[in-house]
Amino acid sequence: MIAASQTVLRELGKTGQRDLSAYDETFLEKSLEKRLAHLALPGAAEYLKFLEANPGEKEVFLDSLIVTYSEFFREPFTFAFLEKLALHQLIPNIQRAGRKEIRAWSAGCAAGQEAYSLAMVLDEVSTASESGITYRIFASDHCKTVLEAACAGSYEMHAIQNLRLSQFQAYLTGDHGQFIIIPRLREHVDFSFHDLVEDAAFCPPASIYGDFDLIFCSNLLMYYRTEVRQFILNRLAGCLSPEGYFFCSEAERAWVKQAGGFAEVTSFAPVFQHSSLRRNTGGIGR
Ligand SMILES: C[S@@+](CC[C@H](N)C(=O)[O-])C[C@H]1O[C@@H](n2cnc3c(N)ncnc32)[C@H](O)[C@@H]1O
Repeated sequence: MIAASQTVLRELGKTGQRDLSAYDETFLEKSLEKRLAHLALPGAAEYLKFLEANPGEKEVFLDSLIVTYSEFFREPFTFAFLEKLALHQLIPNIQRAGRKEIRAWSAGCAAGQEAYSLAMVLDEVSTASESGITYRIFASDHCKTVLEAACAGSYEMHAIQNLRLSQFQAYLTGDHGQFIIIPRLREHVDFSFHDLVEDAAFCPPASIYGDFDLIFCSNLLMYYRTEVRQFILNRLAGCLSPEGYFFCSEAERAWVKQAGGFAEVTSFAPVFQHSSLRRNTGGIGR
């Protein structure tokens, strides 16, 4: 990183609102470049002057570090693996343990697209299995604005185009281009504020205790530096049930493999289980 950019980032880090040292250096540089382009400023030195003259700019820059883009069924192979393989292993295990509920966590849930996609699959599979097993999803984020949108569960037509027609008909109501998640599905999802980096609680406090059968943490690790990624992954591994599944994005698969703790379950989707379990039992879905 060039010296002028470092000075700018040091200056931005002084707000005390957020620890910039947690972020990946390349991500910080790219965010700064984008901001310079947006303001049509030639370089970091000019931005430093701009910062002095505009006290509100620090907040604008810090907000630009919260990337909340998401999609329903964002990684189709991941959801196919969940539907066709993982749940068929998990449900009998849950029944044998005398439990009644699949517990899932969408960590970094943005406006709820991932959590509701998960809810649709869990609803379809648990209904079809006639097992009597139900499901609860804890969905958390450190951005209050997206959590409000997630709770509202209201989406425009373009946002729901990855849904199957049967899912659209079963789980959404509305018209005129605005569609709302039906209350029956919404009731299975608890949205709450939780910061994976800062929060003292390991998992969303609403979940009471950890041990999730499914954890999704996708398109979030990529914004943090290696040590912070490792911290988050250790935290998530500590909350995953012994035979549970962990899902990240394809772009993050290599980091999860390197971090230890988790072992890959299949080559066609970024799905993991505890490495201790994979050593002992071999795998499915290869
Ligand atoms: C790019 S979105 C990805 C959303 C969804 N998981 C997906 O794959 O489509 C990343 C989300 O993670 C959230 N996030 C980033 N850092 C976080 C942290 N430390 N704790 C909780 N949420 C975080 C952001 O606010 C954002 O909503």
